[in-house]
Amino acid sequence: MEGKIIDGREISGLVKEEVKEGVDRLKAKGRTPGLAVILVGEDPASSAYVGSKERTTKALGMHSEVIRLSSGTSEADLLAEIDRLNRDAAIHGILVQLPLPEQIDEQRIIAAIHPDKDVDGFHPVNAGRLMAGMEGFVPCTPLGIMAMLERRGVDLNGKHAVVVGRSNIVGKPMAMLLLHANATVTICHSRTADLPSITRQADVLIAAVGREGMIGREHVKEDAVVIDVGINRGEDGKLHGDVDFDSVIPVASAITPVPGGVGPMTIAMLMSNTLKSAEKAFR
Ligand code: GUN
Repeated sequence: MEGKIIDGREISGLVKEEVKEGVDRLKAKGRTPGLAVILVGEDPASSAYVGSKERTTKALGMHSEVIRLSSGTSEADLLAEIDRLNRDAAIHGILVQLPLPEQIDEQRIIAAIHPDKDVDGFHPVNAGRLMAGMEGFVPCTPLGIMAMLERRGVDLNGKHAVVVGRSNIVGKPMAMLLLHANATVTICHSRTADLPSITRQADVLIAAVGREGMIGREHVKEDAVVIDVGINRGEDGKLHGDVDFDSVIPVASAITPVPGGVGPMTIAMLMSNTLKSAEKAFR
């Protein structure tokens, strides 16, 4: 069973080492990549994610700026902060931690970030670039999944990849990346009729639904590669994936655990996107 597990901690460590080398090369020329993260409010989970992004940015030798704003911050004040960072030459990546308080329009905020500093890849211009197969920023979670599949030697050419979930952050960009890698792609979602009949066709199954244990043995074909994007806080207080790991691992050929799978890859790719932005800015 051990050999079936795709270790996100190990692979993200390799990606971060490569990023660190790239950062060192830029710094040798007197150029330091910088990432700004904005957190609005005091949500403990968001706060923990932001803290982890800050530590990783610094550990890789990059400049980190974290802006913590109160939960009552107005949309205008947040837009002003983004405008300032858009103009700041020391900042190559801007990330606004989601979700935002209800008085703030998330789409308006995402659209205000300069597309060339949008290291989350959420800006509509970057979403369009991805769809068109153009150079741009790709959302970190699907990018991290592609890196995992690549390092594991999973050949996607002509394979049937099934993505369960259609969010702008994971499902839709994931489907595009798999398509560009020559997979045949199906997107399923909460209204999909007879989900198991479709997921059972998957050579590569990506579960990004946000419901603990939703994907069970009956959803998975023998020898499928199963990628679990879920991060659900269970009643036991622990993190659980969208995949019922214990029942699926005997049939899968490879599977990502939760925690220690996709999660660590997301931060690693954020670092990679920030380096890429800085390299472009200094070119
Ligand atoms: N909240 C949860 N995941 C993410 C992410 O990848 N980026 C941002 N900006 N906010 C998030």
